[in-house]
Amino acid sequence: MLVDRFDRRITNLRISVTSRCNLNCFYCHREGYDASNELTPDEIAEIAKAFRELGVEKLKITGGEPLVRQDIVEIVEKLPEFKEISMTTNGIRLSEIAHDLKKAGLDRVNVSLDTLDGRKYSYATRGGRIERVISGIEAAVDAELTPIKLNMVLIDGFNLDEIDRMVEFAKQFEGNVIVQFIELVNLNYNGEGHFDVYTLVHKFEKGAKEVRIRGMQKRKQFIFDKYAVEFVKPVDNSEFCMACNRIRVTADGKVKPCLMRNDNLVDIRGLKGENLKRAIMKALNLREPYYRG
Ligand code: 5AD
Repeated sequence: MLVDRFDRRITNLRISVTSRCNLNCFYCHREGYDASNELTPDEIAEIAKAFRELGVEKLKITGGEPLVRQDIVEIVEKLPEFKEISMTTNGIRLSEIAHDLKKAGLDRVNVSLDTLDGRKYSYATRGGRIERVISGIEAAVDAELTPIKLNMVLIDGFNLDEIDRMVEFAKQFEGNVIVQFIELVNLNYNGEGHFDVYTLVHKFEKGAKEVRIRGMQKRKQFIFDKYAVEFVKPVDNSEFCMACNRIRVTADGKVKPCLMRNDNLVDIRGLKGENLKRAIMKALNLREPYYRG
C-alpha cells in the first residue's frame, strides 16, 4: 500500500498516453503538461505493473485524447489487471472503437461533454462535431463501458443554462450515465467563468433516492431512478487536496505528483524492476497538498 508523507493513500494512477488531441477546448488545462515523445504500449504496461505491485488499485488512461493513438487498443490489452481500468475521452472516436476497448479490458469511460448544443460544442472545441460524441456515448453504453460519467465543466457565461438539459439527456440511458459537474480550473487565475459547483448541491439533494459519500474526497453522489449526479470541486479546496489519492504519469514517462505543478516531476522512463519502483517511491515522497487549509 502506498502512503505519502501526509498520510494520503495513493490508490489511483492516471497515465497520460498522449498530449495530442483532436479538439482544442478553450478552457483545457491539458493535464498540466505537454509531452512529445510518447511511451510505447510495452513501456506503459511496465509502468502500470510497477504501480499495481506497489498497491495502486485503479487506473485511468488520460490524454490529451487517448483515442488519437492508433495503438490504443494494444495499450489497453497489455495492461495488468486493476480493480478498475477507465479512460477519459472526448468521445469523438469512441463509436468506432468502444467494443474493441471493452474486449481489451477497459471497464468504463468518462466522456467530456459540456454542452448539448451542436453549435456551442463546435465553438467550444474549435470544430468538434457533437453527433460523433453522442454516437460515441451510445456505443459505449452498448459495449457496457458503464457506468459512463459525463464530465460537464460548468462555466459561467457558457453552459450554466444547460444543467437540466444534461440531466435529461443522462436519464435516457436508464442508470448507465452519471453526470459529473466539474468546477473550472481557470489557468489565468482571474476568476473568469468561475462557478462554485457546490451551490448546486441543494438543487439535487431533495429528490435523490440515495446520497452516497464517495471515497476519501467525500464526493457527494446523488442517485435518482434513471441517473446520478456527482460534484468535483478541485479549486481552492484544501479538503480535496488532503484527500488526494492520485498520482499521474505523463505521456513521456515522468511521474507527476500534483496536477497543479510541473517543478517536481520524476523521470522513470526506461527503468525496470526495483529501480523503477525506487524512482516511483521517490516521486511519492515529493507529494504535498497544493491547496492547504
Ligand atoms: N477545468 C476543469 N476541468 C478541466 N478539464 C480540462 N480542463 C479543465 C479545466 N480547465 C477536464 C474536463 C475534461 C477532462 C478531459 O479534463 O473534465 O472532461
